[in-house]
Amino acid sequence: MSNGNRRPVAAGNWKMNLLRRDAEVLCQGLTGGLPAKLEGAGAADVVLFPTATLLTTVARQIQGSAISLGGQDMHPDASGAHTGDVSGPQLADAGCGWVLCGHSERRQDHGEDDALIGRKARAATDHGLLPLICLGESGNERRAEQTLAVLRRQLTAALASKPASFEIAYEPIWAIGTGEVATPEIAQQAHAFLRQTLAELVGEERAATTRILYGGSANPSNVADLIAQRDIDGFLVGGASLDSGKFLDIIDVCARHRG
Ligand code: 13P
Repeated sequence: MSNGNRRPVAAGNWKMNLLRRDAEVLCQGLTGGLPAKLEGAGAADVVLFPTATLLTTVARQIQGSAISLGGQDMHPDASGAHTGDVSGPQLADAGCGWVLCGHSERRQDHGEDDALIGRKARAATDHGLLPLICLGESGNERRAEQTLAVLRRQLTAALASKPASFEIAYEPIWAIGTGEVATPEIAQQAHAFLRQTLAELVGEERAATTRILYGGSANPSNVADLIAQRDIDGFLVGGASLDSGKFLDIIDVCARHRG
């Protein structure tokens, strides 16, 4: 199946950036520019992943627009004594439909392991959220030719707890925030491998409909070549998603894409 059968996703991961006023201005830029980008083109899903403190502000701003909301992380438990964490029901209550699971910055900064990420993905779907499972190899792992083994390990563990639904983001760590984007060939090779591994894990049909996004220094000048690849179905954008003009341009490329 070509990616023409999968609706592209343009997702913005704001990470630990912006105050409420900045978030409002950014959302106004996006909601103002979005209709022109989506109309007449195909269509794309647009999702924002702001810091937890900004969720209600962003939810208000994007009300009535085509933009969806997601959390950057969630605890696998529904509630309880977990200081500093946020739960799936709390994210849903704040207006989220999506949640990131296993971003490499969570793995690095908070020691999250593959098994925990699997539990989070399952808890997400139990609470009606769509997990966007993030995975990718480090520069050292790529140099040691461990990339495919790492991707297989991460994907297998994330799906071991059988989340009811999910999408995937391939984010090579060496490309995140570095300006060093993966070439279309390198990204396509990883995406194709992930889709083939998905077919083994969850069957051909689900593998063919799962969106696999690319993340890592995605910007308006490199996304067209990336999405032209057969197995690349959109983007999880960090830095460039903090600029409404750049993010709108990325949305535009996704919305116009025909597989
Ligand atoms: P950059 O787009 O800033 O490289 O970040 C990618 C990322 O980590 C998105 O989750």
